[in-house]
Amino acid sequence: MTGTDIERAILLLRSGELVAIPTETVYGLAANAFDASAVTKIYKTKNRPQFNPLIIHTNSIEKLKGWGLSIPEKMSQLVNHFSPGPLTYIIPKSNQIPEIVTAGTPAVAVRIPQHSLTLQLLSKLDFPLAAPSANPSGYISPTSAKHVEQQLGNKIPYILDGGDCQVGVESTIISFLNMTPEILRHGGLSVEKIGAVIGPVNDKVNTSGKEITTDNPVAPGMLAKHYAPKKQLLHGDIHKLLEGKDLSRITLITFSTIYEKVPLNHQLVLSPAGNLDEAAQKLFAAMRKADEMDIDYILAEIFPDKELGKAINDRLKRAAY
Ligand code: TXA
Ligand code: MG
Repeated sequence: MTGTDIERAILLLRSGELVAIPTETVYGLAANAFDASAVTKIYKTKNRPQFNPLIIHTNSIEKLKGWGLSIPEKMSQLVNHFSPGPLTYIIPKSNQIPEIVTAGTPAVAVRIPQHSLTLQLLSKLDFPLAAPSANPSGYISPTSAKHVEQQLGNKIPYILDGGDCQVGVESTIISFLNMTPEILRHGGLSVEKIGAVIGPVNDKVNTSGKEITTDNPVAPGMLAKHYAPKKQLLHGDIHKLLEGKDLSRITLITFSTIYEKVPLNHQLVLSPAGNLDEAAQKLFAAMRKADEMDIDYILAEIFPDKELGKAINDRLKRAAY
């Protein structure tokens, strides 16, 4: 069932059930993070590997402190600028955070999402919500309640409908476990903006496309292949990718360019005005739309390698792997 009833969501979460929640990035599949059996349901419902830890969501830093977590100085600076917002912080865990949430690692991921409905919900809870993106493991993250309904609707009791996600790609992940902060995932907050507040960061995002495994646990969830549509997606120079292809059997995902040879209804132009924020917001819905068309290939452009373009290219590259 889908609706906007916060009280219903609270009752379900308190009794150990799952609720899909809207955030500014993507929809999350939430459970009481302090209830290990509720968290187990997340892994089962998503078919998520047990080694992949979850982000906990709350509405305030004071609550995090109350749960035994200490906040590094540079994290505080970022919190002041960007939380609530599309940024996730990795810090040493406390005893109160169950092992199942962190997949046995000594660190926990925390985030304050920027969404009025979910902030209202979180403000009424005295526990954090563990929530991965609300998609079956490996598929594209959902950016609307309808996306969640299509794939998980019959597996969860409630989807809290907060409309279309305004950022549209997952949060940026920054780790404070080493001296210099490390970027583990490009996402909804640009590395440029982070650097402007706290100075240099190490960008640890795997750019070689090499598979990250449990032996290489820097960011356990950042598998080389991820976020993939069912159709084959190719990521590169469109003119080259078009060579030898039947133009009626492909769909393009582009930034702002229109390609003359290709039928217009097979071109998903993410931002005719050339705005990377707008392109990020529309990316996952476009991938889903292309996936539903009667075609053989999805061809996606390489976006400008800056600001949210980094997150867009990252998701496309993993979809193409
Ligand atoms: O925008 C978002 O972050 C969304 C919304 C729902 O908040 N959530 C999300 O969760 O994208 P998920 O589970 O799909 O991705 C979380 C990523 C995974 O790659 C996971 O491996 C990583 O965060 N992660 C979580 N806890 C971690 C930890 N303790 N150490 C390192 N990486 C961690
Ligand atoms: Mg995910």
